[in-house]
Amino acid sequence: MSTFKAPKGTYDLTPPDSAKYLAVREALSAPLKNSGYGYIETPGFEDVALFSRGVGESTDIVSKEMYTLTTKGGSELALRPEGTASVLRAALEANLHKLGNLPVKLWYSGSYYRYERPQKGRYRHFSQVGAEAIGAEDPALDAELIILADQAYRTLGLQNFRILLNSLGDKECRPVYRDALQEFLRELDLDDDTRRRIDLNPLRVLDDKRTEVQKQLVGAPVLRDYLCDACKAYHEEVRDLLTAAGVVYEDDEKLVRGLDYYTRTTFEFVHDGLGSQSAVGGGGRYDGLSEMIGGPALPSVGWALGVDRTVLALEAEGIVLELPSSTSVFAVPLGEEARRVLFAKVTELRRAGVAADFAFGGRGLKGAMKSANRSGARFTVVAGERDLAEGVVQLKDMESGEQQAVALDVLVAEVQQKLA
Ligand code: HAM
Repeated sequence: MSTFKAPKGTYDLTPPDSAKYLAVREALSAPLKNSGYGYIETPGFEDVALFSRGVGESTDIVSKEMYTLTTKGGSELALRPEGTASVLRAALEANLHKLGNLPVKLWYSGSYYRYERPQKGRYRHFSQVGAEAIGAEDPALDAELIILADQAYRTLGLQNFRILLNSLGDKECRPVYRDALQEFLRELDLDDDTRRRIDLNPLRVLDDKRTEVQKQLVGAPVLRDYLCDACKAYHEEVRDLLTAAGVVYEDDEKLVRGLDYYTRTTFEFVHDGLGSQSAVGGGGRYDGLSEMIGGPALPSVGWALGVDRTVLALEAEGIVLELPSSTSVFAVPLGEEARRVLFAKVTELRRAGVAADFAFGGRGLKGAMKSANRSGARFTVVAGERDLAEGVVQLKDMESGEQQAVALDVLVAEVQQKLA
């Protein structure tokens, strides 16, 4: 152990567990790559104002959880707490919305930072795979994204998750609802903090988990009753498309999400084996965000899936991913001459595309064979002086235990054929 530890609320990914995270990331993004989404990567930090304007001054994410810093040059930056504002900023900056047909469909994967109280499933550094479809108002696009996330979780084998769905209305109907809700909330017996929230972000009060608050919320006006005809029709279409695709969802009129940019469709994927941090993913439509950050009107929709929580969900369901071993051949030289010859063979194997590793450090046969076992390699190649004198190596199949002498100059071809 060194003097240092990973900072509070963070953890390291180390082998062999790290392979699971890579596989999860790959599985979450695979359906996107297969559906016309192009890869985008943006910096880990941005102008603070991008998030305060985009995600919203009144949200916890911006007001309490952002890692902000002032650079030596005087710029106010924030480590990104989420991806949507950054991706839209980058798409606008690159004029992607002007280059071709809309929507611009993008996917991303990376690290995000929130100064939250750490607990299981809630970290200060975490990882998301996300998707954004920019510049189209089409219920089929909302449905597409929900279907793709559902597919991603299912290919991992997850079953115990539910999809919560809601509509938050648009700039026509939401303000009317907001007024009605504020009027209702102002009559309640609430603490000062919550009272302030009534002015800033009344919909978030509905999210309050405390029973004394929830009790008073019975009879609160519900957004569904205030949706305008256009929002209602849009939402019905999303629901119909999901049903037609065989995706089961639950209507959840209390689902408001913790970011201010949402309009109309919002959804969350919750897993029942995760305790309080049950959201494995979430997203929705954000038709006004582009204008909020100085761009043109570009109605858009997207989601982000939490990699850390997806891994926890797999563990909760007892799912062990079948990960192919990363090494196919492990070479064990006996003696100096063999070291040079086998090292060259390993290089040759690698150049031919075969995953190969070598017993480094000049330990004895026993230690080297231990490493070979631990590597999970299908084959070991062992050679000593006598083998080399005969121009062969001993190729051992670690699955069957069979061993055969193979001529040095056909080793690569032989291994390739056996692996095919
Ligand atoms: P979000 O709901 O804030 O949405 O985060 C999405 C997912 O990231 C969560 O469901 C959760 O799995 C994971 N996550 C969030 N915070 C943490 C944390 N502290 N520790 C571990 N995992 C966490 C967004 O970020 C939006 N940008 C999604 C979106 C994209 N909406 C439209 N487009």
